[in-house]
Amino acid sequence: MNIVTTIIRSRHSVRKFKSDPVDDKAIQDALECAVHAPTAMNHQPYVFVVVKQKETLAKIAGLAENGRFIADSAACFAVFGETQETYYLEDACAATENLILALQAYGICSCWVAGNKKPYADPVRELLAVPEKYTLVSLVAVGYPAEVPITPKKPMNKLVFAEKYEEK
Ligand SMILES: Cc1cc2nc3c(=O)[nH]c(=O)nc-3n(C[C@H](O)[C@H](O)[C@H](O)COP(=O)(O)O)c2cc1C
Repeated sequence: MNIVTTIIRSRHSVRKFKSDPVDDKAIQDALECAVHAPTAMNHQPYVFVVVKQKETLAKIAGLAENGRFIADSAACFAVFGETQETYYLEDACAATENLILALQAYGICSCWVAGNKKPYADPVRELLAVPEKYTLVSLVAVGYPAEVPITPKKPMNKLVFAEKYEEK
């Protein structure tokens, strides 16, 4: 293991946060890491809205039925993809994961909340004044962790095959 793989392995979805604000320099660095993710033809067809105001966090939480905890997060990143771009979903998801891992390296935990297939995608976009050519891909609630639940993963031998897939 090395520093990067250790950080990746230390990440778990956190839905309970301390009330402390997150460091702005960490947020800026994480956003720059997000745009370092690969994108098809380097189009970078996304925009990020960083929400810290309690009132707006509460409104997003009110819309996102599986993300009520956003109300008590220190910040929420809303990642939007430009729908005219063929690979907007892959590109915005790669950026989201880079963002999450960069924050994790600062000890800032997070939970990815579904975006683009949800009925609240448009209401969240409108709330944050994002133009119609974008759609919500992900919401990432972040903060210093109050509780870190460990979610078990499937065994590797069920997921990884050498050379060819085989039924097990
Ligand atoms: C595309 C996507 C959508 C998700 N949506 C939600 C969500 O709406 N609410 C939530 O609490 N967690 C959500 N999660 C977090 C998953 O529940 C979590 O990643 C999964 O249970 C595995 O746990 P871990 O992240 O701790 O490894 C989402 C994750 C992904 C990648």
